[in-house]
Amino acid sequence: MCGIVGYIGSRPAVDVLVRGLRRLEYRGYDSAGVAFFRDSRIEIRKAEGKLENVERLLNGAIEGHADATCGIGHTRWATHGKPTTQNAHPHQTGHVVIVHNGIIENYQELKKEIIGRGGHPKSETDSELFGFLVYEEMEKGLGLVEAVRASFRHVQGACSVVVLSEKEPGLVVGVRNGSPLVAARDPKGGTILASDAQPLLEYTREVIFLEQGDMAVASSGELRIVSLETGKELEREAARLDWSPEKLDKQGFPHYMLKEIHEQPGALVDTLNGLLERASTAPFPLAEQPGARLLDSAREIHLVACGSSWHAAQVGKYWLERWARIPVSVDLASEFRYRAPVLGQGAVVLGISQSGETADTLAVVRQMKALGIRTLGITNVRGSTLSREADAVFYTSAGPEIGVAATKTFTAQLLVLLLLAGYLGLRRGADPQGAIPPLFEQLVRVPHLLADFLGSEAMASAREAAAALAASKGFFFIGRGYSFPVALEGALKLKEIAYIHAEGYAAGELKHGPIAMIDEGMAVVVLAPRDGWRDKTVSNLEEVKARGARILGVGAADDHALASLCDHWVPLPAAVRPLDECLLPFLLTPLLQLFSYEIAIRKGTDVDKPRNLAKSVTVE
Ligand code: F6R
Repeated sequence: MCGIVGYIGSRPAVDVLVRGLRRLEYRGYDSAGVAFFRDSRIEIRKAEGKLENVERLLNGAIEGHADATCGIGHTRWATHGKPTTQNAHPHQTGHVVIVHNGIIENYQELKKEIIGRGGHPKSETDSELFGFLVYEEMEKGLGLVEAVRASFRHVQGACSVVVLSEKEPGLVVGVRNGSPLVAARDPKGGTILASDAQPLLEYTREVIFLEQGDMAVASSGELRIVSLETGKELEREAARLDWSPEKLDKQGFPHYMLKEIHEQPGALVDTLNGLLERASTAPFPLAEQPGARLLDSAREIHLVACGSSWHAAQVGKYWLERWARIPVSVDLASEFRYRAPVLGQGAVVLGISQSGETADTLAVVRQMKALGIRTLGITNVRGSTLSREADAVFYTSAGPEIGVAATKTFTAQLLVLLLLAGYLGLRRGADPQGAIPPLFEQLVRVPHLLADFLGSEAMASAREAAAALAASKGFFFIGRGYSFPVALEGALKLKEIAYIHAEGYAAGELKHGPIAMIDEGMAVVVLAPRDGWRDKTVSNLEEVKARGARILGVGAADDHALASLCDHWVPLPAAVRPLDECLLPFLLTPLLQLFSYEIAIRKGTDVDKPRNLAKSVTVE
């Protein structure tokens, strides 16, 4: 998704912009650019492809531009118009230069009008048109701030912009009117703006999350927040973030994704610490969470999400049904929002989104709120739109996830869902056998078991299997019960980072069609831990084996019968054996993440920034 950085102050602006854009690279982009003031003129350098291409245009010598102390930068993920240099941001119209994130829905009409008034847009983008509007307003005599406000009156759709004008060189104007924009005062004097907090953390931890309809008006001396609608000055408090800059580095791992896979035990511990009452000795002590109180009276729960978060929701359904005995539905947000779902009395809709910015998930939360239905969120980002708009929110504390593929945020989401299931089970008296307290005791041990597992022989076996199977023409990931959604997530990981066709399937469904695909070129990853579904899954394994597929089996270390059926074998260590079967997704998922990672590096893909993908999907 597009990323924006803006700066005015006393530091070399080009350096701040390029470093900031690097921090936003994880969002996924296909072109980039910067614009900066040289005396009272604006210079632009932009290029197709990676940020390095822009740095090359800066002659590799950012220091050479040290005299520039004001500018804006952008990474673009193409929506309107191809990813070319011409379409890259910043866009210039006369003395006005803009960067933009989001979509201008009425761009066709605007374009016609602008051309009718004698304008000549140079790009295919909707974004450039905004610059024309600001330019025209300034030519009518408005100052930059007023011209930006006036321009928004012509624009439909959710977007954020940052604008400069050669007519007002001491000013950077940013607007949040959809996609997120954050601002911070530079302790050395000046202001930095960006699409998320990461570019700011090098300079300060005090960050203002602009609200919808906020304008940041920044000069080297001050930062004012002004209402887009009224033009009146607003009070906005800065939030203090605890994400240290070191957390943003790779810490010795070759890729962020691998680092983040290994950070999962820590992410689970931090998430537990963030949600549970530390002083309590009761199991699942969540009662102090506002979201938990809201769930107390729920009669049915609707989980809504996209992508990996949707897979987490699928696991959550199994848990909530089993432990809390409450009706649960799981929906893709992009489908739910356009259906006519029937929700009963006491329905609660829970949106799950690691970024808290996914357009479809947010749309569902807004729709439900408008209908008077209670909404909850699970997100990793404090201050995200989901966290502000849902009635209450549960935070995962996975820390920043830079790799585009969800890893630690996924397992942290799982954890929250299991906490909710256990909490609600006790609350609703759904545990006559007293199985929930021992489950909690096991759950708090899971981070340690996972840390050991990530360093165990099982991972070495997964690496070997990845090497052996990397050239397969396609993959199925199959499982039953809790392992079914884990299989879906495993297949998604392989597709997104290794670009290999993979399908996740409920093992019992294979014979209803997809088994026709099986031949010697296919690999099938079979998740068959010793759980209530193991024997049925093994029968399905035999069916695909008989048709020539190469099998990677995952099962209990002492399940020799299963191991003997597999071409490749990943044993789950004995330490895992006492765990309730419902906890196995916490181990199986990281295993499959690592398996996909190993295949991807063998294929030489850009693991942290897979092609065509974006970290935060703010368009529907
Ligand atoms: C896959 C992945 C995506 C996201 C999806 C939803 O690894 O990361 O499928 O899960 O785009 O994103 P969030 O959770 O931010 O709503």
